[in-house]
Amino acid sequence: MKSYLVTGAAGFIGSNYLKYLLTRYDDVQVVALDLLTYAGYLGTIADDIDSERCFFVRGDIGDRALADRLFAEYKFDTVVNFAAESHVDRSIENPQLFLETNILGTQNLLDAARRAWVTGRDADGRPTWRAGVRFHQVSTDEVYGSLGEEGFFTEQTPLAPHSPYSASKASADMIVCAYRDTYGMPVSITRCSNNYGPYQFPEKLIPLVINNILEGKKIPVYGRGDNVRDWLYVEDHCKAIDLVVTQGAPGCIYNVGGHNERRNLQIVETIIRTVRRLMEEEPARRTLLKRQETGPDGLPRIDWIDESLISFVKDRLGHDLRYGIDPTKITNDLGWRPETDFETGIEKTIRWNLDNHAWVEAVSGTDYQNYYEKMYAGR
Ligand code: NAD
Ligand code: DAU
Repeated sequence: MKSYLVTGAAGFIGSNYLKYLLTRYDDVQVVALDLLTYAGYLGTIADDIDSERCFFVRGDIGDRALADRLFAEYKFDTVVNFAAESHVDRSIENPQLFLETNILGTQNLLDAARRAWVTGRDADGRPTWRAGVRFHQVSTDEVYGSLGEEGFFTEQTPLAPHSPYSASKASADMIVCAYRDTYGMPVSITRCSNNYGPYQFPEKLIPLVINNILEGKKIPVYGRGDNVRDWLYVEDHCKAIDLVVTQGAPGCIYNVGGHNERRNLQIVETIIRTVRRLMEEEPARRTLLKRQETGPDGLPRIDWIDESLISFVKDRLGHDLRYGIDPTKITNDLGWRPETDFETGIEKTIRWNLDNHAWVEAVSGTDYQNYYEKMYAGR
């Protein structure tokens, strides 16, 4: 049995990874550690937790005593650190929390792993490590900053983050590399582009647009909607992490992305068209709409679901223009390729959000409504 610590496992990518891991391997045991902040929802992984292979612990990655206790009790071979404050807009409002969780939280886990995994010292005084252990840091393409119209991020691109969020993630990457270079710790890092798919918290662009249509609200597009993001279906990201953790050389860094660049406005228009089409194809779905004006056919009208819902609002401060990943290294070294093309993935994601509206409602309670009003008021 391999013993994994997966942090942030009740969040978007962490929960998808947890499900992937438990489905793919019979011989893994996982501790899912999550603080259950606004972004973590236990219901997402409730069916995955059992008394044999998957245990849930509510706690903070920055808690030293807890980390030591978990390492002692479960003898982890592998740590996959997803836990983070992940939303750029929130980092602009409250940078300190991002630094505490993303930098100091990561450093606390690294230290707990070092205490648990170092077996002694070699003749030169360098730490020796338990065989087969790995600390994997889930990072982001945002650490590289912003691209102009041309070019892609490679693993050699210098780190040049702009937002408090991306600066905290870049700092965490540098701390991870410091443990590699100073103590010889077996680490790896993946830097992935924008994910989309099931269980994404509705503050992020794609689920926000779907949810606002259902709510009959305007769709806020920052600036002119010209910013470009490089979208990857979440399961492809999970597969990439699994490959790097199990087959990537100790110390390695990999970019992950599927050459899937879209302007934000294109994304929003695609979602509007697809939601309307799905409501045309299956009129029963229209019960999800808050706007219940009946048309001449006796069904709730959907002719208002169009581009008139778009509202161009004040731009995000320091808004990065474009992200684009060059995934050559992970493709050449590990044979990773994205399996879900954008057209398939976005339709699956929209269907998932419609079919699981109860999940969306469960995670977007009063706290989210308050956040939304504050974040978008006067924009
Ligand atoms: P998310 O916000 O959906 O989930 C984060 C999870 O971490 C939540 O369950 C939250 O409760 C938990 N958490 C927060 N603070 C914690 C703490 N102190 N201790 C323990 N748990 C804590 O985020 P996500 O989108 O799933 O992102 C996961 C990771 O992947 C992050 O590290 C993020 O930087 C990285 N990433 C995200 C994307 C993306 O597009 N979403 C792309 C590349 C990399
Ligand atoms: O690139 C990877 C990163 O992708 C991850 O590291 C982050 O954790 C993740 O949140 C995501 O960051 P973005 O800032 O790119 O994602 P977000 O969904 O917030 O925004 C996507 C784009 O859409 C961005 O250009 C801002 C824009 N946007 C976003 C929101 C929420 C809008 O125009 N309107 C909105 O209401």
